[in-house]
Amino acid sequence: MSLNAINSQTGDLPFDVTPYSVTIGGDVSGIDLRQPLSDEQVEGLRAALLDRKVLFFRDQDITTEQHLDFARNFGELEVHPFAPHKDGYPEVLAIHHNIDRPGQENGWHSDVTWRQEPSLGSILRCLECPPIGGDTLFSDSYAAYDNLPEAVREKVEGKYALHDFEGFRMRLRAKGVGEEKIAEFNETYPNPEHPVIRTHPETGRKGIYVNAAFTKHIIGMDQGESDALLEVLYHQANMPEYQCRFRWAKNSIAFWDNRACQHYAASDYWPHDRIVERVTVIGDVPYYREDGPVTNMDESPFRGRIKYQHSNPGPNLFKA
Ligand code: SIN
Repeated sequence: MSLNAINSQTGDLPFDVTPYSVTIGGDVSGIDLRQPLSDEQVEGLRAALLDRKVLFFRDQDITTEQHLDFARNFGELEVHPFAPHKDGYPEVLAIHHNIDRPGQENGWHSDVTWRQEPSLGSILRCLECPPIGGDTLFSDSYAAYDNLPEAVREKVEGKYALHDFEGFRMRLRAKGVGEEKIAEFNETYPNPEHPVIRTHPETGRKGIYVNAAFTKHIIGMDQGESDALLEVLYHQANMPEYQCRFRWAKNSIAFWDNRACQHYAASDYWPHDRIVERVTVIGDVPYYREDGPVTNMDESPFRGRIKYQHSNPGPNLFKA
């Protein structure tokens, strides 16, 4: 089934997109990322990304410059201040894991939400895969929001949460970075407050925009209530119905929309090597708008099928 068969909004695309799972993921074929893209191809990819939240490309034997050129079609590129980059390419994150450095991106997150203007999208290229394992999972943040219990939605709509780069701060300290430098980073990257439910700036749809890696607490709530609600919201990313799981091969590429999904890199391949490189497109300041389009739940593919579970709902969480 092609994307057009399931979503007429995108119109005709100058390449094929095959859905990867029900609401998220699209396998793109008929496009060669070694070549400069036409305006029509760029617009088609944008439309497909908005629809599918993450696009996958196979057998793209591209250079680092072609990786960067591809990403620049979608916006300005970010330089990550803490994570290692490829020599000579500050905009290319070098994510290398091996026997001495096991994978550590195995937590659900949306990239760089500790920034005031977090990422629009990330484009990850695989240079070396483990013989088995090392998949990346993606979770649809709209589906996660649409299927929240009404009582939870009412509590979190319009609220803001504080985000922080604590994990990176710990790693910087472990590498011996001194407190003076850490204080400088804290000043350069002050904790942003982002909406708990974010309105996507292009689709207008609402999605959960807190993540276990970078969100600290919901502003204006005591820690107990905030923790209980955040746990419910984080749990939504775990639902297999909202996910797809990508099996990498050398020269595969994944391009995801950080405004519409979260991802998780399975760390199940130790002691093998896994080498991937990420280029990240800068996004805008997240906002919430109450009157965005709402999914018609009568048409939801998950309607009536989600068994709501959580380990610690906290007191009175589901009382309206
Ligand atoms: C990331 O979290 O950006 C990296 C994901 C991956 O290595 O699959």
